[in-house]
Amino acid sequence: CITRHYTFNIEYTNVTRLCHTRTILSVNGKFPGPRLVAREGDRVLVKVVNHISNNVTIHWHGVRQKTSGWSDGPAYVTQCPIQTNQTYTYNFTITGQRGTLFWHAHISWLRATLYGPIIILPKHNESYPFQKPHKEIPILFGEWFNVDPEAVINQALQTGGGPNVSDAYTINGLPGPFYNCSSKDTFKLKVKPNKTYLLRIINAALNEELFFSIANHSLTVVEADARYTKPFNTNTILITPGQTTNVLLKTKSYFPNTTFLMVARPYITGLGTFDNSTPAGILYYKQHNTSIKNLPFLKPTLPQINDTNFASNFSRKFKSLANSKFPINVPKKVDKKFFFTVGLGTSPCPKNTTCQGPTNNTKFAASVNNFSFALPPVSIMQAYYFGKSNGVYKTDFPETPLNPFNYTGTPPNNTMVNNATKLVVLKFNTSVELILQDTSILGAESHPLHLHGYDFFVVGQGFGNYDPNKDAAKFNLVDPVERNTVAVPAGGWVAVRFFADNPGVWFMHCHLEIHTSWGLRMAWLVLDGNESNQKLQPPPFDLPKC
Ligand code: C2O
Repeated sequence: CITRHYTFNIEYTNVTRLCHTRTILSVNGKFPGPRLVAREGDRVLVKVVNHISNNVTIHWHGVRQKTSGWSDGPAYVTQCPIQTNQTYTYNFTITGQRGTLFWHAHISWLRATLYGPIIILPKHNESYPFQKPHKEIPILFGEWFNVDPEAVINQALQTGGGPNVSDAYTINGLPGPFYNCSSKDTFKLKVKPNKTYLLRIINAALNEELFFSIANHSLTVVEADARYTKPFNTNTILITPGQTTNVLLKTKSYFPNTTFLMVARPYITGLGTFDNSTPAGILYYKQHNTSIKNLPFLKPTLPQINDTNFASNFSRKFKSLANSKFPINVPKKVDKKFFFTVGLGTSPCPKNTTCQGPTNNTKFAASVNNFSFALPPVSIMQAYYFGKSNGVYKTDFPETPLNPFNYTGTPPNNTMVNNATKLVVLKFNTSVELILQDTSILGAESHPLHLHGYDFFVVGQGFGNYDPNKDAAKFNLVDPVERNTVAVPAGGWVAVRFFADNPGVWFMHCHLEIHTSWGLRMAWLVLDGNESNQKLQPPPFDLPKC
């Protein structure tokens, strides 16, 4: 194992897409940002230098950060932001993970342009549990705004209404031929016949679940969220913001005289912001004489935009590899059970303003167990560590919803949320079962729930109300998929289990950025264990101050 050093200069860069040139925030002038590559077991040091006028933090999404919570990155949860001209070095070791993750800014909506892949290779002398790929290709989905994304979220929060949608989805930062002015801004993947390629697919989009398919090529899923899965074949994958999926692509045994479009498109269960726009890239075979411009192209067929059957069947296909080489440790007995409702709601419009919220004089809000989590002006974990929690947070986050919930499909009359900063406290190594129940109030979208500092096992999922008497008996405790982000289906639930074996303060939130901004977020406080390797490390000397 080695130590890998990176420097991330957060700086301004001009980028043109859709015929609009904007000065965006970038890492080292790159968009999308640079790849971070490490092997399992390596230590990674990333020196982040802030050259912009915004405050910034970077989150290593999915990296477990065992006892190194100070390097996790969510602003005001584990650290104060890095201010202009300040530097902070993130320092973490990759333990027990290999596959694909990603990094992104974790303050306001800066992740719109500040994101890039994390590639974790197996240890030296260890091979993949699948055919060795000829090449590995990161595929990142993102969103492009013709205006400053900070203006979009600030306006939404001020008016209380929904945010303007982005102007394009992108594949590796490029919208592709279906958008205005974008034929030249198309991701192109040149392949050879008869080879296996590993596509490392990352959904870094702000607000949309996406289908993805490549014309006339099937994909074999082998890994999700940096955990190996039992391989399965599919023509289309569905990937929710915050998830990563590794797939094998086998190329044909000849040079086809055509090119193949790779296409993504949103999956939206209800009629929310209906957005049918389609980013596309091109897969083509290395030809000898013909330029690809002269070749015809084939398009894939994607599921319907609201194909819930596809979505629920697809998510059930994910199973952990769970063999003797890669065993899993699912809690069989549960010490603590939680039932969380997640969804949208409303909050009152501030005096002397008019709000464009869902009902008269209200603003959109979102909550977990009817609480909209308020970020304090200081770092929660610092307040905890230095015994200064007074006035910063409380530890009485409810184990069940404040207003008992019964899913009937019709929203209740009172959708008001409460604002507070409340945490759940867990003793070290508690085995936790968490039911996440979507309320489908004011919007029917799945909620990609992401937990920092952990992977959890997805032991069950279903539609309607979760029923502890019937549903728990059917939990998969043998080979459930292990991941850090799960889509809680609109009008349904998922059940997850994990051991709270990582001390620190850990954020959990919807990875649809607008829902996070509206308050669909909370945090766990996991106490130290007795052994020295079960304690949160002391804060680094350069930890930013608020
Ligand atoms: Cu990828 Cu808290 O986020």
